Amino acid sequence: MADDPTPHPEAVARGGAVETLPDTLAMGPARLARYRPALLEPLLEAALESYPEIHRWLRWAQAPLERETFAEFIRGREADFDRGVAWHYAMVGRDERVVGGAGIFPKEDPHALEIGYWVRTSCTRQGLATAATRALTSAAFTYLSSIERVHVLMDQANVASAGVPRALGFTVSGPTPRPRLTPGHSGLYLTWTMTRDEWGDVTKREPA
Ligand SMILES: CC(C)(COP(=O)(O)OP(=O)(O)OC[C@H]1O[C@@H](n2cnc3c(N)ncnc32)[C@H](O)[C@@H]1OP(=O)(O)O)[C@@H](O)C(=O)NCCC(=O)NCCS
Repeated sequence: MADDPTPHPEAVARGGAVETLPDTLAMGPARLARYRPALLEPLLEAALESYPEIHRWLRWAQAPLERETFAEFIRGREADFDRGVAWHYAMVGRDERVVGGAGIFPKEDPHALEIGYWVRTSCTRQGLATAATRALTSAAFTYLSSIERVHVLMDQANVASAGVPRALGFTVSGPTPRPRLTPGHSGLYLTWTMTRDEWGDVTKREPA
């Protein structure tokens, strides 16, 4: 799929081979589908509907969402996926409507990844962010052998977001000071962590 055969320096690699995640992951009532040009319009529509909420919390939604800038943003994330650097997906409902987005991307620690998510405003409180985070955590530990920890970070004031890793049994640490980058930020961050060993225990207790 990637035109460039040279692995990106940040790619998750083992024995010279780049490890990657599947293009599609099952997640409860929806699926995660990697960004593709055909998803641009439905993603933009979902993001525009959700602008007040995502603007409050997400760095990429600070300027008004213009089609060309958004297309470039999606293309960048497709390229990251091709290179095995970061994996961004649309949440697609059974009726093929885009109901949000979620991704998993590198941290400074080469053995850790971070998950991010947003859910279309009209589809919140249906367990979608939790289902996406469960699917991405399982995928990271299944397909990426060097990953030992998965994190979810959020500002302490983002009470809705904190409910997601809490529901999945992640352990919280913090708060620690971080720059305020969006209107909702208090400047204090929480870091939620799941280790490979703990996830094994959780999945034994809660079969998918
Ligand atoms: C945060 C967000 C992703 C939650 O998505 P969601 O699909 O509604 O979350 P879930 O339905 O999986 O909720 C899981 C738990 O989180 C908590 N939660 C979710 N929304 C909440 C809210 N508005 N108020 C309080 N708790 C909330 C609850 O404990 C919930 O469990 P429950 O519904 O059984 O009580 C969504 O509100 C959103 O997109 N917000 C804007 C973008 C954002 O903040 N992204 C995260 C940045 S760190």
